[in-house]
Amino acid sequence: MFYRIAQKFLFQTQAETAHNLAMTGIRVTGNTPLACFYSQNVPYAPVEFMGITFPNPVGLAAGMDKDGEAIDGFAAMGFGHLEVGTVTPRPQPGNDKPRAFRLKPVRGIINRMGFNNKGVDNLVANIKASNPGDCVIGVNIGKNKDTPLEQGKDDYLICMDKVYEVAGYIAVNISSPNTPGLRQLQYGEMLDDLLSSLKNRQQQLAEKHGKYVPVALKIAPDLTDEELAEVCGSLLRNKLDGVIATNTTLSREGVEHLPEHQQAGGLSGAPLTARSTEIIRKLHQHLGDQMPILGVGGIESAATAMEKLDAGAKMVQIYTGFIYEGPQLIKAITEAFIKRK
Ligand SMILES: Cc1cc2nc3c(=O)[nH]c(=O)nc-3n(C[C@H](O)[C@H](O)[C@H](O)COP(=O)(O)O)c2cc1C
Repeated sequence: MFYRIAQKFLFQTQAETAHNLAMTGIRVTGNTPLACFYSQNVPYAPVEFMGITFPNPVGLAAGMDKDGEAIDGFAAMGFGHLEVGTVTPRPQPGNDKPRAFRLKPVRGIINRMGFNNKGVDNLVANIKASNPGDCVIGVNIGKNKDTPLEQGKDDYLICMDKVYEVAGYIAVNISSPNTPGLRQLQYGEMLDDLLSSLKNRQQQLAEKHGKYVPVALKIAPDLTDEELAEVCGSLLRNKLDGVIATNTTLSREGVEHLPEHQQAGGLSGAPLTARSTEIIRKLHQHLGDQMPILGVGGIESAATAMEKLDAGAKMVQIYTGFIYEGPQLIKAITEAFIKRK
């Protein structure tokens, strides 16, 4: 109820303005009694994923809290995990505004934010200052726009070194469509080289810190069947801990009738649901039980979340559906998950 009122107001403003207003509200109230306006009584429904026990199967997808500024507020809502980031080694402003657009009739969003963030050191400080209880904090890492692609690997390693001690898990984002060339890291030798370097570093850091932090790869929904098979080969060869599917799509299928479809960027929400589920199904065919899948893309109800689990995902994340449906979606999905067991 409270969310519907807030949403009515927020949807009067441009998408990024609404985002900033909501983030400020959640950040400021997260640790106060006012959090009761949005906190949900989400039942405990533990899930084992990548060796971690998550309190429930619903997470906040990357990009909402890029700098980890509102961790306590999102945790109070009842999320089982939050994926903060994408964070880059150095702060960067992202693309020119406006850069996020609602496609209300189809419950979608197009964004070309371009990894706007305050840098990895700021994120680490924010995580250290947070108090999310049993809500797991994953950190999604990327490369700076002005780092040449050939040196992109170094940016991931810098981020990994810095976030390792505070992260519950690390998500490697090579699938954003808004950093020029980034998706090239999903292919062939570049991918193998990146994943083997990250895996080596993970082993060194595990010894140094005396704890193992799992590493997952986040992939795009726009991979062909052959490309997907290659990615799976590389994931298995390099013994990654998990895979997150999917990021936003470059496709405009199903939204061509809306004027916003011409905006550059990645499309998320309901128009992505079927495509992302299909990718999860194919991933599961390749990976079987060898590697767990975290499903994301167009989840806007308990039913669409269960479709992801039926396709082979073990847990889910929400972003666009959360904007359109509000925090009650966390509880609805968790309750359906308990019934499904
Ligand atoms: C405005 C916006 C910003 C995003 N930023 C990031 C990001 O920084 N890193 C990332 O890995 N994914 C990012 N995403 C993608 C989401 O995490 C998610 O993978 C995608 O939106 C599909 O899920 P959804 O349909 O539930 O939104 C962003 C999505 C949106 C809408």
